[in-house]
Amino acid sequence: MNKQRPLNPINYKPANLVAPKSPGLSFNPYGRKLRREAAIASIKLAEAMHGAGKGILLIQSAYRSYSEQVAVHDKMVKSYGLKKGEAVAARPGFSEHQTGLAMDVSARGQGCRIRVCFGQTKAGIWLAKNAYKYGFIIRYPQGSTPMTGYQYEPWHMRYVGVFLATKMKKKNIHVLEKYFKLPPAPNY
Ligand code: DAL
Ligand code: ZN
Repeated sequence: MNKQRPLNPINYKPANLVAPKSPGLSFNPYGRKLRREAAIASIKLAEAMHGAGKGILLIQSAYRSYSEQVAVHDKMVKSYGLKKGEAVAARPGFSEHQTGLAMDVSARGQGCRIRVCFGQTKAGIWLAKNAYKYGFIIRYPQGSTPMTGYQYEPWHMRYVGVFLATKMKKKNIHVLEKYFKLPPAPNY
């Protein structure tokens, strides 16, 4: 989904939302929820990142309902204006967070929480390189704004499954619009 491809119905709510937890690894301190398959994958991702010595993955945000996205979008547009606000927050009904397949992450003690510099942290670098093995992609990579309509978001991870994430990696295509030959979606 993107700025040209909203959810249908617009207030869609996924089934099977669960809050992932990993014993000994407190990576979901706010109890954020994902669809079961993505939740299981997020645990594997966090454990692999920790095992590689890249720190503790923290889920800042994951599933957001239509009305929660109303609040996020309002806040961003009020703070930054329509153009800049909508480059970081989707309109309700247009957010991947509402699918239960996207999460915003940070890493404990590494700073740059939900900031572009997260991409330069040891966690951010590791995720960009390895998340595909667990079915996640960096959905809004650097330089993709003309296709996605969003700024570079190294923290926004979209679960697409290991099969697709691996294919995208092998083909060196990192943006879903490009992979599926969809029209660019810079605007609503
Ligand atoms: N931050 C992403 C674009 C969203 O609001 O869905
Ligand atoms: Zn996000």
